[in-house]
Amino acid sequence: MDIEHKIYLDYAASTPLDERVLEVMLPYFNEIFGNPSSIHSYGQRAEAAVEGARETVASIFNVAPEEVIFTSCGTESDNLAIRGAAFSKREATGANRILISPVEHHAVLETAHQLSKHFGFILEFLSVDEFGRIDPEEVKASIKKDTAIVSVIHANNEIGTINPIGDIATVCRERGVLFHTDAVQAAAHLAINLEVTPVDLLAIGAHKFYGPKGVGCLVVRKGTRLLPVITGGSHEYALRAGTPNVPYIVGLAEALKLTTQNLDTRSNSLRALRDQLIDGVLASVPRCRFTGHPRERLPNHASFVFEGVDANLLLVMLDMAGFACSSGSACKVGAPKPSEVLIAIGLSKSWAMGSLRVTIGKDTTKEMIDRFLSVLPRLVEQVRKNKL
Ligand SMILES: Cc1ncc(COP(=O)(O)O)c(C=O)c1O
Repeated sequence: MDIEHKIYLDYAASTPLDERVLEVMLPYFNEIFGNPSSIHSYGQRAEAAVEGARETVASIFNVAPEEVIFTSCGTESDNLAIRGAAFSKREATGANRILISPVEHHAVLETAHQLSKHFGFILEFLSVDEFGRIDPEEVKASIKKDTAIVSVIHANNEIGTINPIGDIATVCRERGVLFHTDAVQAAAHLAINLEVTPVDLLAIGAHKFYGPKGVGCLVVRKGTRLLPVITGGSHEYALRAGTPNVPYIVGLAEALKLTTQNLDTRSNSLRALRDQLIDGVLASVPRCRFTGHPRERLPNHASFVFEGVDANLLLVMLDMAGFACSSGSACKVGAPKPSEVLIAIGLSKSWAMGSLRVTIGKDTTKEMIDRFLSVLPRLVEQVRKNKL
């Protein structure tokens, strides 16, 4: 089937670049090509673009421009936050514990694991409820005097659950511990006001909200000390060396600006379609469970597990039938492994191996959902029969 006839239902993985974003990026590839660090007017024009983008992002999150650090992606932002804060805090105070949730994206999880395995930090985990939510009271009880940083995902990429980030941030602030949140999924759908939410570090990536791939940012609130991960020149307030990617930074700011306009109206229409999808799947597929929180979830996110289903096989069959979706499991050929997130919310392996994530976006229509619902039950049945 041609790609034009396929139905894309994987907006949590990536989104198409908005035409309006492309438009504002284009002059910065050739016309305004100077290095923002150069003294001459070519450099000044490029610098003005980067600083304009910084101001746009800052005003959206309600922070000062110098608190916005551009990076190459959400993953790099998470790395800079966790590594940068852990090393800096340990150097300043001796604190060497890292406290995270078990439902973090690998960008946080693997970074924390490496700091524990190779750099002598003690990694501790919070628990989650059946929906993958973290209790702020447990965060409060788990912070120790030598906890260097706490990291809790804002909205979960696999199961869509939104965490009570304001309450968790407040608890960390009260206990005097740095708090990082991975808002890579959240930024596409939720209003984030850091004037009222005392988050110290917040990571985003542009390709989740119709911006380009390969650019992200980390908000670093004033007074938060970080050891840079990439060293070199003094770009980005000496927190991230390297000539800034001017067109992509301009694109990130434009995409974020467009995304945060009419957020409520867009969320409401996404939510209506998403609920049609969820109700349809639950009504038509036997031995199926919905994952994540029923209400506190991203408006575009539906996730399920099917008992006795090989998620990878289902994804291939869906793709052949014209639907692009994803699963929560990090299945690799020969080494199938259920997702840590699904195990953390209490699912057994036979359920967790059969996960399906369907995420909708700006081009999704009711007809597309109807078509999806008309093929999914049959495909699940076929995958179950093919099971060895
Ligand atoms: C919650 C979350 N954090 C981090 C990332 C990584 O972001 P990037 O692809 O920009 O590196 C993703 C991407 O899927 C994500 O969903």
